[in-house]
Amino acid sequence: MADFKRIVILTGAGISAESGIDTFRAAGGLWEQHRIEDVATPEGFARNPGLVLGFYDTRRAAMAAALPNPAHIALARLEREFPGELLLVTQNVDDLHERGGSARVLHMHGELQSALCASCEMRTRWEGEMLGRPACPVCQSRSLRPDIVWFGEMPYQMGRIYTALETCDLFVSIGTSGAVYPAAGFVQEARAAGAHTLELNLEPSEGSRLFHESRLGPASALVPAWVEDVLSCAGP
Ligand code: OAD
Repeated sequence: MADFKRIVILTGAGISAESGIDTFRAAGGLWEQHRIEDVATPEGFARNPGLVLGFYDTRRAAMAAALPNPAHIALARLEREFPGELLLVTQNVDDLHERGGSARVLHMHGELQSALCASCEMRTRWEGEMLGRPACPVCQSRSLRPDIVWFGEMPYQMGRIYTALETCDLFVSIGTSGAVYPAAGFVQEARAAGAHTLELNLEPSEGSRLFHESRLGPASALVPAWVEDVLSCAGP
């Protein structure tokens, strides 16, 4: 690892897999158990809100029962000890980065612990169930939905992410299949800006050939080892 100054990290479901959270595209994963059109689109929610609310209630409960693993904890250490600029972007809607100790996490696909009111557009921290269609604490309408970016909707904070990609010198992708845009295109943005690009994944992802370097194995082993490398090379 060279002495990098500006790092952008993208994480996906693979970093939470060893905490017991289902990934999407593995055999038996979430998208084999449920149709994307039914549970992860605005049209699916309009057709059958109960199905969608129940799906995310189940995932919120699974998240609450899970614990961060050594990969989440290592990224929190990097945030505390890396002397340069660091942006941690996650596609994950769980809170395991935060519970692992990361204070600054950008959730580009939303968060299970947030409710969005379709009526007044306010966001509220949400830990319980939504299936009973509770009232929005701000406007009292029964229009709450999970604050999750569904297919066909714009991921959050893209301007901030692209600005960081344009100036980073290292881009690291951890535990993501590279199947969903715009996140799957971040590696090309970073390369165009001249950054070194590294993938840490259990197996080669769909976009593996786009990276300068690939390290294969479980995130709980790869991420702490990589963080150790970076911190041992980082200058003041
Ligand atoms: P996927 O399920 O598509 O991919 C998970 C990746 O993690 C795969 O490449 C696995 O090989 C890898 N993996 C599994 N276990 C691992 C481990 N222990 N260590 C390291 N890697 C491991 O999940 P995402 O790429 O996160 O979006 O999916 C991207 C988006 O698609 C999600 O945010 C979600 C989904 O549809 C929305 O719902 C909007």
